Amino acid sequence: MCAQRRFFITTFGCQMNAYDSWRLATLLEKNGWQAAESRSQADFVFLNTCSIREKAALKVLAHLRELAPLKKQNPSLIVGVGGCVAEQEGIALYDKAPTVDLVVGPRRLAEIPYLLDSWDKDCSPIILAGDPPQEAVFNPQNVYPLYPQDDKTNSPLSAFITIMEGCNNFCAYCVVPYLRGREVSRPEADILAEAKSLLAKGTREITLLGQNVNSYDPDPGAKASQSGSPFSRLLARVAALEGLWRLRFTTSHPKDLDPSLTRLYGTLPKLMPHIHLPLQAGSDKVLSKMGRSYTKAHYLSLIDALRKSCPQIAITTDIIVGFPGETEEDFQETLAILESIQFDSIFSFKYSDRPNTKANNLPNKLPEEEKSRRLSLIIELQKEISRKLNMALIGSHQEVLVYGHGREPNQLAGRTGNFKIVHFPGQKELIGELVTVSITNSGPVTLKGEIIDALNPTLRKSQRA
Ligand code: 5AD
Ligand code: SF4
Repeated sequence: MCAQRRFFITTFGCQMNAYDSWRLATLLEKNGWQAAESRSQADFVFLNTCSIREKAALKVLAHLRELAPLKKQNPSLIVGVGGCVAEQEGIALYDKAPTVDLVVGPRRLAEIPYLLDSWDKDCSPIILAGDPPQEAVFNPQNVYPLYPQDDKTNSPLSAFITIMEGCNNFCAYCVVPYLRGREVSRPEADILAEAKSLLAKGTREITLLGQNVNSYDPDPGAKASQSGSPFSRLLARVAALEGLWRLRFTTSHPKDLDPSLTRLYGTLPKLMPHIHLPLQAGSDKVLSKMGRSYTKAHYLSLIDALRKSCPQIAITTDIIVGFPGETEEDFQETLAILESIQFDSIFSFKYSDRPNTKANNLPNKLPEEEKSRRLSLIIELQKEISRKLNMALIGSHQEVLVYGHGREPNQLAGRTGNFKIVHFPGQKELIGELVTVSITNSGPVTLKGEIIDALNPTLRKSQRA
């Protein structure tokens, strides 16, 4: 009997990549593969890559170089590269890293198991990029989950579901539309079927994923006879599913955030009070050069509306510093808007040139040291804001979904409704439960607390269902 083939996947980048890796793992397992514990035990090693900034793309090449000795030891090892670096580089990746056998863009992932089944080493490298040939982008047969037991990216408790792929926005700095293609929304029935299947296996929290979830529209030709946006309707339908406790989504584009979604925060109890709403910059001039299609005033009006609808909502964002031509005054406007909005947390990045993007050809690029200086100032300011907001939670009672163990023995970790990480003492039997935690301490990133109510988790579960 031949030994079972084993795979090892390493994921870089965003949650979409995490979901894609999990989907690939599921597909491979369906096709008779087994997860290996390390790369050295694998017959197929796959790097699912990110190329949103240059640093992320360079990391992939370093990893590929590390794989060369493994390949020497085991010449039949198949090395695959997926995700955005694969799409961007194509055959050029093979020139940079001849260890590579398979280069697969993000829209071609589902073909990997079939390629591996008929693998012929003499035909490598194989390059698959662009849109898939005929079959639907989302074949429900391919996305039904099997739950590898130790899967960290899509655990049964808190799962991702991709609702759309690609992006039509072409922000001046961004490679995503070139690499992930145009927006394709997944049919609502498929999403609901996947959600039900997850819930039947014990999932309690679902995060709907897309590059720009607000423009979710599986049926663009349909007349807008129903109320609200297609995304708001989808949220309401997923929230109505039995067994779901918590619903989240990411990422939103401020230009497409509509009042029907804002209102849901006040009316759908399962929709958790958190939104990630990338701002990118605080100056209208920079926002316009970035092609973001909104002004600072519009963004501020969205924050107002969200906070009116849901006063306890946590708001997080992405900021880019040092976009070409960003002056000191522009940068000061970004600092000022962070002060005035008081985001719960932010992801901040130095602008990075990406191939094919509009910004790549813009004049007045900033020196690296200046970008670093601005980034440090942003990080410093935000640390203070996050610290202050978290301090204000001391003494409050938070409902926490227990995700797993904390860093210390007998410590558990979970998230509040508004996405803050909390550590607290507790026994492992509470993993997967909702508990009430009194917050006793805080830092800029995490909170500490003590459970004050976990007496009857079974009852709690049945109440929630
Ligand atoms: N340089 C720096 N940051 C970028 N992002 C996207 N492209 C670039 C780039 N070229 C950031 C944006 C986006 C987040 C996912 O990554 O802030 O929201
Ligand atoms: Fe990139 Fe802009 Fe699309 Fe976001 S909305 S993925 S930043 S092009």
